[in-house]
Amino acid sequence: MSAPKLSLTTTSAAEATADAIIVGTVRDGEDVALAPGTEQVDAAFDGGLAGVLASLGATGKPDEVVKLPTLGRLRAGVLVAAGLGAAGEVGPEQVRRAAGVAARALAGTKRAVSTLSTVDLHAAAEGTVLGAYRFDEYRSERGDAPVERVDLVSPTDGNAKEHRATLKAATSIAEAVTTARDFVNTPPNDLYPASFADRAAALGKAAGLEVEILDEKALRKGGFGGVLGVGMGSTRPPRLVRLKYRGPKARTKVALVGKGITFDTGGISIKPAAHMEEMTSDMSGAAAIVASVVLAAKLRYPLEVTATVPMAENMPSGAAYRPGDVLTMYGGKTVEVLNTDAEGRLILADAIVRACEDEPDYLVETATLTGAQVISLGRRTPGIMGSEDFRDRVAAIAKASGEGGWAMPLPEELRRDLDSKLADLANVTGHRWGGMLAAGLFLREFVPDGLPWVHLDVAGPAYNNGAPWGYTGKGGTGVPVRTIAAVLADIAEKG
Ligand code: BES
Ligand code: MN
Ligand code: ZN
Repeated sequence: MSAPKLSLTTTSAAEATADAIIVGTVRDGEDVALAPGTEQVDAAFDGGLAGVLASLGATGKPDEVVKLPTLGRLRAGVLVAAGLGAAGEVGPEQVRRAAGVAARALAGTKRAVSTLSTVDLHAAAEGTVLGAYRFDEYRSERGDAPVERVDLVSPTDGNAKEHRATLKAATSIAEAVTTARDFVNTPPNDLYPASFADRAAALGKAAGLEVEILDEKALRKGGFGGVLGVGMGSTRPPRLVRLKYRGPKARTKVALVGKGITFDTGGISIKPAAHMEEMTSDMSGAAAIVASVVLAAKLRYPLEVTATVPMAENMPSGAAYRPGDVLTMYGGKTVEVLNTDAEGRLILADAIVRACEDEPDYLVETATLTGAQVISLGRRTPGIMGSEDFRDRVAAIAKASGEGGWAMPLPEELRRDLDSKLADLANVTGHRWGGMLAAGLFLREFVPDGLPWVHLDVAGPAYNNGAPWGYTGKGGTGVPVRTIAAVLADIAEKG
């Protein structure tokens, strides 16, 4: 979908030619106050802007937006005031959210100028692109167009060159998030393994990546029993996509793996009908990984980044895999399937083993893996598991990115509940306790000892089935693209 065009401006917001001007408000005790960067705008209101906004009900709370006609006091006809929350607690995520809310409120507007960028340019740019995002490919009548152009007032610190670099990084990251959202929002009749693979390959080629697609024949030849087993019930056969980016002077290799179930009915262990349509989002991990490796190329990270993305549709049919089947996974481990709805870990196991043949220095893997993630951490906080040091490093980065995330354990006592009566491993424990952690323990069986590895369970966070908030609309959220981008940047910097 078309993103708003962002540019930097050094013109005072009060003088700017635009249809609308965006200012930030904060909550200062009981009162609403103006955020920094709004001094000249306030002067045009003779210092009374906060009072006018208060009389219109503005409080400065997050997600609040108040519109005001400027009646000739500014060149822009409309002033949009977006809440940043408590005055002492304004960080990047608050700016991103306010910019997102403002961008959404500006649908139908051609040109706006934002002062939020004087508080945090990177966050204002990301929030603007993400808040303006919409997906109306499938509507015959489109509503108001997203805001076309937003001029971001340059921060007073730093120089123009730095600001341009910040804007480029922020827009590239935000566009990677919208790429992931587009994949997630495309309905499962149009996005199935073969079409998903083709779209991922096209993006990869355009970004100069090495592209490899294994079709069902190649998967059979290679012995990818997990991907094949899960994909067996569908008339639309599975795929494994590999996208490789070789960065300049790359010494560190990062393997990325993401779950690409294009629709999850549960298979023979079929899911209840209520909300099953949300399982169109069960390829969110794959979407994030594809978008992230393309982003790594765009930002020229000095890394070798390889995405390994298994894609399958989990359907019940006469050809489907059954509870009781034993699958031989890529690499030779055998798995007894006790529940065909625990399919994500099966396709991921194959992909993890394949990815690790390249001897990566890090493995970052993400999936909409368990309902237990939503039960334990809610809809907005990814569960982060893996080898402890790297897990904690990624959890800190996830929190700082604004996407959130929380480090979770892999309790040893749960491991034996994955023992199988006839195979190396069963795909479920047979009880509900610690379901997200049990899935993590299952995956750990396929990760080489000593490899820094992280698993992000984004079952809730990848998809917003509620009302829009901040820069997050309905549908695919693009989580965890920003976390992965920040992890790659951190590895590029520190090794
Ligand atoms: N795709 C689901 C997990 C999921 C649930 C994602 C809710 C998004 C929202 C996954 O394949 C699944 O069905 N997991 C089962 C595992 C169980 C059978 C051990 C679950 O969580 O119920
Ligand atoms: Mn499932
Ligand atoms: Zn699933």
